Amino acid sequence: MDADLIKLVNKLQDTFANLGTCYAGGELDMPQLAVVGSQSAGKSSVLETIVGRDFLPRGQGIVTRRPLVLQLIHTPVPEPAPGQPAPTYTEWGQFLHLDKRFTDFDEIRREIEQETFRVAGQNKGISKLPIHLRICSPDVLDLTLVDLPGLTKIPVGDQPSDIERQIRSLVLDYITKPNCIILAVSAANVDLANSESLKLARSVDPQGRRTIGVLTKLDLMDAGTNALDILTGRVYPLKLGFIGVVCRSQQDINSGKHLTDAIETEAEFFRSHAAYRNIAHKNGTKYLAKTLNQVLLNHIRDKLPDMKARLNTLMGQAQQELNSFGDAAVYGDKNQQGALVLRLMTQFARDFVASIEGTNVNIS
Ligand code: GDP
Ligand code: NA
Ligand code: MG
Repeated sequence: MDADLIKLVNKLQDTFANLGTCYAGGELDMPQLAVVGSQSAGKSSVLETIVGRDFLPRGQGIVTRRPLVLQLIHTPVPEPAPGQPAPTYTEWGQFLHLDKRFTDFDEIRREIEQETFRVAGQNKGISKLPIHLRICSPDVLDLTLVDLPGLTKIPVGDQPSDIERQIRSLVLDYITKPNCIILAVSAANVDLANSESLKLARSVDPQGRRTIGVLTKLDLMDAGTNALDILTGRVYPLKLGFIGVVCRSQQDINSGKHLTDAIETEAEFFRSHAAYRNIAHKNGTKYLAKTLNQVLLNHIRDKLPDMKARLNTLMGQAQQELNSFGDAAVYGDKNQQGALVLRLMTQFARDFVASIEGTNVNIS
C-alpha cells in the first residue's frame, strides 16, 4: 500500500480521534475489498500481492473454503520504555477464534488451513462462517480485504448438489454492499465470455463503477494468443478498467520464490512481451496497487463534504455555548474550549490540504 496514502488516512483519523466523543460517527469508514472469481483463478494470489505478505493458503483445486475477512490495522511501532530493548517484531497477526499473537506468517497460513479443516471438513466442503484475521503493522492502511471461495458449477467431495447457488449467495453477501470494491479475477487462459466473476460483479454493479477487472495467468496463454484487447478495454467495459498480472505459479510456490522476486519477474514479463510492451506501465501488481490507492483516495474525497459539515455543526455548537456565557466567558475557561475547537478545525484543514497536495494522485 502506498506510503503517502497511509499517512494521509492516518492524519485524518488522528484528527477525528482528537475530537473524541464530540464527533461520534465521524471516522473514515474505508471500503472493503473483496476478490471474486472462479476456483483457482488466482484470487488468493492477487490478494497476497496487494497486502505484500505471504500468508494465504494457495494451490490447485479448492483451497479457500471459508471466507477470510482480513482486517489490516495500521499500528505504529511503539517506543520502547526508557532502558528497555526495542520490540523484536513490528507486525503480527491475530485471529478472532484464538487468543494468540502470530509473528510468523507461515504459522498464520497453517492456522488458516487448520481452521478451514475444523469447520469446513477435510473433503472440499465450503462454509459460510468467516475466519477473522487481523494484521497489525506500521506498513498497512486501515482496510478490510475479503478472500472468498471460488465460484464453481459442479459439486465434488462433500459439496452439496446446490453448491453453485450456495457459493454465489455467499459471495453476494459481501459484494452487494455499495461500500465494497470488487476485484473481479479472471484467468487469461480461460475465455472471458465464461467469466463468472464479471457476470456476478455486473449483477451488483451494473455500471462497473466499483469493479476492477484483474486478468491473471497471462503467462499461461496459448502461444500466439494474447489478451491485448481485453486489457485495453475493447472487450468488456469497466470504468476502472482491466489490469493484467502474473502471479507465482505452483512451481514458484513450491520452490519458495519470494514475493519481491515474483514482482520483478512480472515486470520483466510485461516489458519484454511483444504484445504488452506498450501497455506495460498500466499492468502488473504494482499498477494494481496504485489503482487501488486512487480508488481509496477518491472514496476519501467523496466523504469529505460530510466530514466538513459535521465539523461545522460542531463549531456552531461550540460558538453558541460560548455566546450563552456572555462577555465574561470570553475571558474565562469556556474561551479555552472554543479555542480548542478552533485549533482542531484549523489543524484538520491544514493537515488535510497538505496531505492531498502532498499525495501524487495522478495514475495515468
Ligand atoms: P484461487 O483459488 O482463485 O484463490 O487461486 P490461487 O491463488 O490459490 O491460485 C491457484 C493456482 O494458480 C496456484 O497454484 C497459483 O500458483 C497459480 N497461479 C495464480 N496466478 C497465477 C499466474 O498469474 N500465473 C501462473 N503461472 N500461475 C498462477
Ligand atoms: Na485454488
Ligand atoms: Mg483461494
